[in-house]
Amino acid sequence: MPADPQEKVLILDFGSQYAQLIARRVRELKVFCKIVPHNIPPEAVVKESPRGIVLSGGPASVWAPGAPKPNPGIFKLPYPSLGICYGMQLMGQMLGGAVSKAAHREFGKAELTVVEADSLFDRLPDKLTCWMSHGDYVTQLPPGFRVIARTANTSIAAMGDLATKRFGLQFHPEVVHTPRGTEILKNFLYKVCGCEGRWTPGSFIDSACGQIRETVKGDQVILGLSGGVDSSVAALLLFKAIGPQLIPIFVDTGLLRKGEREQVVKTFRDSFRMGLTVVNARDRFLKRLKGVTDPEEKRRRIGRLFVSCFEEEARKHPKARFLAQGTLYPDVIESRSALGGPSATIKTHHNVGGLPKRMNLKLVEPLRFLFKDEVRRIGKSLGLPEEILMRHPFPGPGLAVRILGEVTLERVKLLQEADQRFIEELKAGGWYRKVWQAFAVLLPLKTVGVMGDERTYEHVIALRAVVSLDGMTADWARLPAELVERTANRVVNEVRGINRVVYDVTSKPPGTIEWE
Ligand code: XMP
Repeated sequence: MPADPQEKVLILDFGSQYAQLIARRVRELKVFCKIVPHNIPPEAVVKESPRGIVLSGGPASVWAPGAPKPNPGIFKLPYPSLGICYGMQLMGQMLGGAVSKAAHREFGKAELTVVEADSLFDRLPDKLTCWMSHGDYVTQLPPGFRVIARTANTSIAAMGDLATKRFGLQFHPEVVHTPRGTEILKNFLYKVCGCEGRWTPGSFIDSACGQIRETVKGDQVILGLSGGVDSSVAALLLFKAIGPQLIPIFVDTGLLRKGEREQVVKTFRDSFRMGLTVVNARDRFLKRLKGVTDPEEKRRRIGRLFVSCFEEEARKHPKARFLAQGTLYPDVIESRSALGGPSATIKTHHNVGGLPKRMNLKLVEPLRFLFKDEVRRIGKSLGLPEEILMRHPFPGPGLAVRILGEVTLERVKLLQEADQRFIEELKAGGWYRKVWQAFAVLLPLKTVGVMGDERTYEHVIALRAVVSLDGMTADWARLPAELVERTANRVVNEVRGINRVVYDVTSKPPGTIEWE
């Protein structure tokens, strides 16, 4: 469900990583933008009535066979446009200039000399640092274009046709290595396209609520609330839009962190006064996991049982026509083909993906155009408590994949107690927000220890804390030794049944973040 404010920019996707980074910068500048396939038909662009178009960078060479190209009609549209790197080379090639292959790739920092300061370089110094990463380059300007900046190696480092408001940048303004890059993008958005920066949490909430009401009308909407940031923000947004027509369902698998269920109930039922249904399925999950030690088998069983529990509850509301999910923008983008073919299957979210079809429900995804940090900002302005807003990601199968070996009630409790103490210490030491994820893992072995005068033979806890941007790669967190020591002392002294604590110093790769 798009939140479609008036002021919008389209980003043609010639390589998703590049397009996503540009999108993030544009949103930070308070302008709504959408990433669209590179081959979007001109009519579809007109339908969106954007203020401007950005052609993203991409890994291809404009000379490569099958290189992704936009529909030439895009350049006949009246909207201002900005080509970045590959996007600029496409402009050069398709608008009647010339593009050559460089003998060597130019990669790294370069000093940019501004030749024409109005438009893109308005209120910026004459000399700027920029980040280059390209093989091809524009050697001859298309008719109507002028050079607006150059570097020692690249005589056409930036070009512009001020009459048609078309611009090209050979360097990457979206990366942090171009320190004034955001200001260049800002000039494009505000000065060239005439945007005013209306994309704010408040404006998003208003337009999203309007659209939810329009879509849902008088029908009921079912939502799986996990207690994570995404489903929580989706729940609040829908509740604001349609109140009691929202049916939030929380399945307590018994595999959650200590106090999590209570916190969800306190937040949504007590504070926000939502009619939250809590399904207590703890025993069912334990029973289904009895004797299972293989991680993938655990995942399969948990996934299937989760869907059954959710479905049983949802069937009690036969009048519901919609299922709401907290799908985010990166999930939507990643699920498209690498070069932005039309949207194919969308990654399903939180184990309930098969439900819409099985139950004949239509999907409502109010966050599907948002990045995670935007979701947090929106959650904040909807009043979601900090504790939920800033919570570390938590895997769908929960503690089951952090209990190596068989999952039993006793072992779940041991892990919950140890994990809680680790998290408390991280928060007390100001480290919780500095790490991407941190948790305790219960190992499937016992070791010998000595407490007082007695020999012990008990369980081992591993502490895992990682720094990461997206969970794809991660480095182990260099926590202060005192923090690790305090946690270890507390766990061994306060959690009966644990007599040893170890700290995991493996990065990803070669390790993974979770142990199973
Ligand atoms: P790994 O262990 O693969 O984890 O390095 C990367 C990120 O994914 C989370 N993760 C999962 N999330 N279901 C989920 O919903 C799963 O089965 C699962 N396994 C790993 C993990 O917590 C980390 O954030």
